[in-house]
Amino acid sequence: KGVITIDPGYKNTGSCESAITFLEGDKGILRYRGYSIEELAEKATFLEVAYLLIFGELPTREQLTKFHNDIKGQSVVDEDVKKILDAFPKSAHPMGVLASLTSALTAFNPSSVNVNSEEDMYKAIVKIMGKFPVLAAWTLRKRNGLPLDYGDRSLGYVENILKMMFKQPNEDYTLNPILINALDKLLILHADHEQNCSTSTVRIVGSSHAGLFVSLAAGVSALWGPLHGGANQAVLEMLEAIKEDGGDTKKYMAKAKDKDDPFRLMGFGHRVYKNFDPRAKIIKKAADEVLANLGVEDPILDVAKGLEREALEDSYFVDRKLYPNVDFYSGIIYRAMGIPVEMFTVMFALGRLPGWIAQWREMRLNKEPIGRPRQIYTGATYRKFKSIDER
Ligand code: CMC
Repeated sequence: KGVITIDPGYKNTGSCESAITFLEGDKGILRYRGYSIEELAEKATFLEVAYLLIFGELPTREQLTKFHNDIKGQSVVDEDVKKILDAFPKSAHPMGVLASLTSALTAFNPSSVNVNSEEDMYKAIVKIMGKFPVLAAWTLRKRNGLPLDYGDRSLGYVENILKMMFKQPNEDYTLNPILINALDKLLILHADHEQNCSTSTVRIVGSSHAGLFVSLAAGVSALWGPLHGGANQAVLEMLEAIKEDGGDTKKYMAKAKDKDDPFRLMGFGHRVYKNFDPRAKIIKKAADEVLANLGVEDPILDVAKGLEREALEDSYFVDRKLYPNVDFYSGIIYRAMGIPVEMFTVMFALGRLPGWIAQWREMRLNKEPIGRPRQIYTGATYRKFKSIDER
């Protein structure tokens, strides 16, 4: 007692016990509630995975139908939220807009704040599961100057997201099964990742008993950064820049290794995975399949593969155990699906939503204390105040 050790970035500090996600970095193992990510990505739907993460078990058919119906029943967003959206410039980054609107939802749903029972929590959860995709789709429609779409209750959760994002006015939008499968898989792969930066943010904000929606809005903000979820946008911009530079991967490898250059090879490295990121393996394969199925030839994929080959043979990356992470190939799939680059991190947020919710719910049910790290003070010792004339 009384001795404080510091651990910048919490590299080796546990903040909680959790029964949601198991991750063994050295072996590249990732499991949600005991189920392997490989099997879930192959066999489950995103909504099943969301239920699994939040409530701990895979749903029966009846449980899944009820969960989906409850979500659909809460997918209407207050008309006044549109006025807030209208006030943003068209050029605003969708992640900033999404964080603001998610936070604003609290004002229109005050009952979602004081959640003191599992029933209250359930109500708040289905509300945000219903409204968040609407807000996410609206950020894209606003950017593209399209009228807002309210979704289609006859569709599956992921199908509805695609339609809300892409349906053009007066168009008889047909859903492409390749896009549905690809998005389902991507959202599952992003659904949870234990105590990462945005999830820890959600837990710490929620630990003060702030409402669920503002806790999630804080998670969206944390995810936005390029060292975290924003890496998917940064990867694509980096690959584009390399392509424009005549495919000179060596130049960018040299920049990444130069300690005087702030540039990092985006989509490489991970705090926990020091062997490989199992999600990256699945996504790399999916990228090949989706591009082939959609008949898209993207030279960026060749740049990415070339860069990966070089990095995996380079002693700088090998010695530091830097491997491609989940974001290295995801942007290539999003791009093939027609999703603009500024929306990539919003797609990540749509996937991470159930993970954030599950972690927030666990934290509240475990009655965890308010998050409050300590510090070691390194500033001045006592100084007598000087009036402004004496300074
Ligand atoms: N390019 C070049 N060097 C790197 C990179 C990189 N992408 N990542 C780490 N390093 C170096 C770093 O400079 C350090 O070198 P040294 O030991 O000589 O000082 C060493 O590797 C260890 O790096 P670190 O920054 O101490 O590691 P960390 O655990 O604090 O950071 C990371 C992890 C993911 C933030 C970092 O690897 C990174 O910035 N990667 C690029 C951004 C990225 O792709 N982020 C997405 C992460 S996965 C999605 C998610 O869940 O967020």
